[in-house]
Amino acid sequence: MRTHILSAIALMILAGPALAQGDAAKGEKEFGKCKACHAIVADDGTVIMKGTKTGPNLYGVMGRQAGTVEGFKYGPGLREAGEMGLVWTTETLVKYVEDPSKFIKEFTNDDKAKSAMAFKLKKGVEDIAAYLESVGPAPDGASAPADAPAAADETAAE
Ligand code: HEC
Repeated sequence: MRTHILSAIALMILAGPALAQGDAAKGEKEFGKCKACHAIVADDGTVIMKGTKTGPNLYGVMGRQAGTVEGFKYGPGLREAGEMGLVWTTETLVKYVEDPSKFIKEFTNDDKAKSAMAFKLKKGVEDIAAYLESVGPAPDGASAPADAPAAADETAAE
């Protein structure tokens, strides 16, 4: 029994980082596939990644409730998923991008729900998640204070 628990913990430790730690540099390149529809524009208007407005601005998307970019007209499925508690993490992003409509159907438990995102990518999405996190505001989102000069230096020193 004890060994069972221990190996379960060991598995969790092994499995966790494998999914959580994408490669942000690779993700930046992979994001080229998303630019046809998404841009990354900071709150102050700084363009981090040029793209289009077919899809919502992905600045600060990690850790955010789905379907909440102001002024973007989401499909009802994604909005509903957000209201039901969908938050973008590496895990949800990977599953979503793999098959957006399927994911929204499953999440909302509604067979008629659809995603308005007509794009699928099965590989490298965890790298994109790492990239999005690296260019977004302080990790853990809204409640984190914005005055962290050390972190800003680190990003600039790339
Ligand atoms: C063909 C256009 C298109 C491409 C390419 C595309 N998207 Fe999207 N994306 C959309 C649209 C449109 C929506 C809004 C979906 C809805 O309202 O159901 C969306 C929504 C999203 C959302 C939800 C955002 C939120 O505010 O809740 C995420 C996250 C996302 N896309 C990530 C990606 C990533 C990562 C890629 C590249 C791997 C990508 N998309 C490629 C069109 C696209």
